[in-house]
Amino acid sequence: MKFLLYCRAMENVRVKKSSAGLGLFANKQFKRGDLIIEYTGETISEEEVNRRGGKYLFELNDDWAIDGKGRDNIARYINHSCKPNCYPELNEEETRVFIYAKKKITPGEELTYDYGKDYFDKIIKPVGCKCANCAIRR
Ligand SMILES: C[S@@+](CC[C@H](N)C(=O)[O-])C[C@H]1O[C@@H](n2cnc3c(N)ncnc32)[C@H](O)[C@@H]1O
Ligand SMILES: [Zn+2]
Repeated sequence: MKFLLYCRAMENVRVKKSSAGLGLFANKQFKRGDLIIEYTGETISEEEVNRRGGKYLFELNDDWAIDGKGRDNIARYINHSCKPNCYPELNEEETRVFIYAKKKITPGEELTYDYGKDYFDKIIKPVGCKCANCAIRR
């Protein structure tokens, strides 16, 4: 299942330069609610999160996070947006993260989700948010 999901995702998205470094873009049309890709990586404890740091950490809950820095995890290229077209959802066990389309997405559109207040305030805000929504306001 994991492997099939990975192969499908590799066909449906591509990595390209975006306003915030590299980004992930749609290769095909997605409809609202479509599963686009899984955010994969090593599951690590909060203690290990504090030790490692890094920009590819996805918090699962207060105790655990996924370190998505691995090359296989192309979902790591999804940038933050204040008006995103995707959203992440955890499975019931809070062990896996899946990225879904929040609305209809057309081929060529950049895929984005809201990183959440903690990540935004700590990492995005100090450098200035480069999402399309904030660019319009500048
Ligand atoms: C998970 S990575 C996304 C991929 C990243 N652009 C890259 O080239 O590897 C998260 C990092 O991308 C950058 N980033 C993502 N969204 C951003 C945004 N809206 N504004 C500014 N930087 C952003 C920040 O450096 C953040 O720590
Ligand atoms: Zn923004």
